[in-house]
Amino acid sequence: MTFKTVAYEAQCIPALEEQKKEDQYICCLDPLQSDERLKAVPALNKGKDTIALVLMLVDMLPSIKEAADMDFYEACAAMRDIGIMLGSLKRHGVEPVHVIPELEEKLNILADITDLPPRDTLIHYVRWNPEGKRQRTYTGTEDEIQLIKSVKVAILPLHEAIRALNELYNIPLSSPEFVPVCERVITHFDGMVQGMVNAKRNVSPRYFAEELRFYFDPIELNEQEYLGPGAVEMPVFVFDHILWNCDLGEAFYNEFKQAYLPYNQAVMRELYDAYKHLPSLVNKCIQELRQANDYSVVRLDSAKHLIKLFNLLKSFRAPHKKMADEAYEHAAKDAYREKGSGGYEPGVLHLILKLNLEALERLKSSIQDYKNKQAYQY
Ligand code: HEM
Repeated sequence: MTFKTVAYEAQCIPALEEQKKEDQYICCLDPLQSDERLKAVPALNKGKDTIALVLMLVDMLPSIKEAADMDFYEACAAMRDIGIMLGSLKRHGVEPVHVIPELEEKLNILADITDLPPRDTLIHYVRWNPEGKRQRTYTGTEDEIQLIKSVKVAILPLHEAIRALNELYNIPLSSPEFVPVCERVITHFDGMVQGMVNAKRNVSPRYFAEELRFYFDPIELNEQEYLGPGAVEMPVFVFDHILWNCDLGEAFYNEFKQAYLPYNQAVMRELYDAYKHLPSLVNKCIQELRQANDYSVVRLDSAKHLIKLFNLLKSFRAPHKKMADEAYEHAAKDAYREKGSGGYEPGVLHLILKLNLEALERLKSSIQDYKNKQAYQY
């Protein structure tokens, strides 16, 4: 049996240690000399002092030349700090570019240098946000600090899980290599489950729904909207894409994935594109089970490990959905407030989970067919 393999070289995705080092370096940078002044942001937000926020942002902004002269790392750190101000202003109903028109050109320059959108993303808010006294927050509350922490424990392990999943794609079920690589994916993806556990313990769903998520509202720029740095931007959808979704053609999830793809780094966007015309990993495995003429304990064991991986995905999604439902229960009266931080309603979580479980059922049933076929033959 021949397998179509992915054109994407796993080594193109930077390894965990490399990414950590780069992140720490960006965390240390303060190109707009904002360490001190950003400490005042939570109090200004509490007092809804939009005038002080606008003045602070104007004061922070680099000149066109200063922005253009920044290297990649400085531009990432500068965007992180400007981003805190953008989200703060928008939370109080002020469209940043309406009050500071020169923002557009400067943000576009930083976007070009970083190869990311012309505003901050989850990567700026979490991975490039220093911990401790220099941490940038909108509210300074323990809930927000814990929300950032919940994503931080999950985001780089998720990248590692995606890297390992990309490797797994090229291994047939019949190979003894499948199980150890699948175990690696499982170990890394567990970071997502740990992130949820931390959020469940330490982030009030009500405070999230009624306060925090409004700092992640979209802003206008270049005559379009750019989404704020909500956890929804995490590339879990890239994980889904490879594992069970790239060949489904489900309109709503395709639209969702396309909406969040630009908020991820080039390497993730390229990886996503590499799978556009390929069968998903689960469908490739189902095909292998169907076509196999011989009974193989190794193949069966590999397929069972894939179920274990699906179950872990469920261990993130089911409690996350429950938490989101709880949160929005408190905030459903006003239509505008029903939207999630990414602009979707919590109902989208139900739809994604449903599709996710359907793919799992298809795998389970093909494993059963494989077992039945063997029982019949021998
Ligand atoms: C109180 C805490 C949280 C609430 C109320 C919440 C709520 C939501 C809602 C309503 C959505 C739907 C999309 C949208 O925002 O427009 C969403 C999506 C998402 N959230 Fe959260 N969230 C919370 C914390 C977290 C944490 C800590 C993580 C990661 C560790 C996370 C990861 C995601 C992901 C990956 C999605 C995309 C949908 C999916 O893959 O299932 N969320 N969240």
